[in-house]
Amino acid sequence: MNQPLPAGVCGVRILGTGSMVPERRLTNDDFSRMLDTSDEWITQRTGIKERRVLDLRTQGCSTLAQGALERAIENAGIKAEDLDLVIVATVTMEMTCPSVACRIAGAVGAKNAAAFDLVAACSGFVYALNMAETMVRVGRARTVAVIGSEAMSSILDYTDRTVSILFGDAAGCAIIQADADPTKGCIYQHMGADGIGGHALYIPKRETDVPADDADNPIRLGYLRMNGKEVFRFAVTKFKEVMEDAFAKTGLTPNDVSQVICHQSNVRIIDAAREKLGIDPAKIYVNIDRYGNSSAGSVPLCLDELWRAGKITKGKPFMMVAFGGGLTWASSVWST
Ligand code: UT7
Repeated sequence: MNQPLPAGVCGVRILGTGSMVPERRLTNDDFSRMLDTSDEWITQRTGIKERRVLDLRTQGCSTLAQGALERAIENAGIKAEDLDLVIVATVTMEMTCPSVACRIAGAVGAKNAAAFDLVAACSGFVYALNMAETMVRVGRARTVAVIGSEAMSSILDYTDRTVSILFGDAAGCAIIQADADPTKGCIYQHMGADGIGGHALYIPKRETDVPADDADNPIRLGYLRMNGKEVFRFAVTKFKEVMEDAFAKTGLTPNDVSQVICHQSNVRIIDAAREKLGIDPAKIYVNIDRYGNSSAGSVPLCLDELWRAGKITKGKPFMMVAFGGGLTWASSVWST
């Protein structure tokens, strides 16, 4: 971020997107051979059929983040040196220092970019995109890569059927740039957090991180612990609230948007929100059957698939909504 930038409010557009998932598939039948579970139970309760997993001996969060970034740079038609900021949303960075963002910016040759990781769990990509968009809009940055990347398999206890079946590894990236038309870009954003509810979904490192009322949870230190029922209740309520808020504040109706991109947590959670708001199923993209829940990777993976399929149409707004650990939640409504 070393170029002088004109101050003032401008528009923002998505220049291109990219994504990457590991090649290895872990199907429900694979799980039923490892644990006391079945394809029928997982499909009915979650909508998931398979998820992708990294080979953690040689790969990690950075592998996927870099792949998604490279594909987005190509799709956007820019050079890596054009980027002046790279943000990676993740909870599964190999190391906290250097960040995934620094490592991949270096690897792709984004030598003019500032870089940092952002932690907001499954809401991470939407948080990061909202921050990046605001920086571009006020002239503090011109071209920004926003990535959500997760190696969820590195924090899953595969002996626990209640958590491990839900998650997969994935990354997605959106590259945004300043645009002369100030009506383009994020027209509404909301971000929220509830740290008091944080132990519904957390990754303890020390015994003291585990509260007494979760001491019987069989999941080991360093792995994701979850109170599925509590998260389910929170998610159903919060998804509806966040979408209602975004429609009310923008004056848009579900008919006015081309797509509502929801964090892929559980197909039952997405369906509950969709039904309560009366949104046409064709407007809510679902790929959880193929990838499971990839935390911060889920929204940008959907965005990339929709972008490349031409479903993010010019002239029609679209919405992104996510919730997750923290607890956190976020929305972002874009005029294209
Ligand atoms: O990004 C946010 C991340 N987290 C979420 O979105 C999670 C939100 N929560 C959920 O999606 C659901 O709560 C789950 C899918 C995790 C669980 O579904 P549920 O309908 O809430 O099931 P449950 O926890 O009430 O469990 C019902 C039964 C239990 O057995 P009993 O006590 O009735 O005998 C569980 O032990 O199902 C059992 N069970 C399983 N059975 C087969 C739990 N996991 C499994 C499994 N296979 N994998």
